[in-house]
Amino acid sequence: MKTAAMGNEQWATGLRDPEPAAPSPALADFAQNVRLGLQRTPKQILPRYLYDELGSALFEAICRLPWYRVTRAEIGLLARHGTDVAACLQSPVTVVELGSGSGEKLLTLLEAMDLEPRPSDIHLIDVSAEALRLSAQALSRLRVSVSLHQTTYRAGLQQMAAARRPDGTMLGLFLGSNIGNFHPAEAQDLLRGIRGTLRPGDALLLGVDLVKPEADLLAAYDDPLGVTAAFNRNLLVRINRELGADFELGAFEHRAGWNAVASRVEMHLVSRRAQRVSIPGAGCVATFAAGETIWTESSYKYDRAGIAALVGPAGFRQREQWIDPDARFALTLFEAAGN
Ligand code: TRP
Repeated sequence: MKTAAMGNEQWATGLRDPEPAAPSPALADFAQNVRLGLQRTPKQILPRYLYDELGSALFEAICRLPWYRVTRAEIGLLARHGTDVAACLQSPVTVVELGSGSGEKLLTLLEAMDLEPRPSDIHLIDVSAEALRLSAQALSRLRVSVSLHQTTYRAGLQQMAAARRPDGTMLGLFLGSNIGNFHPAEAQDLLRGIRGTLRPGDALLLGVDLVKPEADLLAAYDDPLGVTAAFNRNLLVRINRELGADFELGAFEHRAGWNAVASRVEMHLVSRRAQRVSIPGAGCVATFAAGETIWTESSYKYDRAGIAALVGPAGFRQREQWIDPDARFALTLFEAAGN
């Protein structure tokens, strides 16, 4: 869905109607993903379904946890280097952000870039209606045109490319180490898709979390307050609500583990005992052995060479790279290379 919005009031009305009364295609996709994912070995559900309204709010809380430093490190880099980013762009600038979250990072960047004139158009792509609502609200005081695409990255990129103006530079933003939630082959494929919607000379600003000591990674993805555990287990709450399932919440626990060989943190929901769960909305019954898991998310961590090896072959040339003082996070500006 796409909502054009300008100014303070219209975005709110525009966002009130994304939930149709009939079973939506989004609900059918969710049901299908749950059914197919629970038939696999290991069982697996796509991370995009973590972000319903409560999931998005829990994720915002994660971003404020002392143990999850990705967001703060990135916001610091955006504030410090916004003018360097702006120097590489030609007006009028169109911005497209994949996975905008609360909108705080984009607002920080736009304020630091201090572009005159302001970007003419901003496109936000996110599967979460709540994330789009928060982002539109955060951006409303800038009084620029904001188009909301409540859909997957790929579908959103297509909608955005069709609406793109012919002049100026496009700045693509893929922040929050969201790229790390894709298997490297899929990540590269997605980067190719992004490149396909850009023209030579357009830019991509990519935020990537760097490899760090295992203890730091585990604290970030299994925090002592249990917020990340709640975020992960909320997926079962969502399946119960939207697909009429009978997951017993106490029978599943959150687990995060570091897989050094694959360079990723893996998030799972572990069944505490043997059990059967029925999921009428997905037309299936799932059987769990004690200790069996549902794999809900991976978060790949890269080093600088890994970032270059991932993004370069997708058709980008590296322009600048900024790393925070604790060497935890890299913000890299790429230029779309010639065809
Ligand atoms: N893109 C974020 C990351 O990989 C998402 C995230 C943070 C996340 N904490 C999480 C996803 C916990 C699932 C569970 O850092």
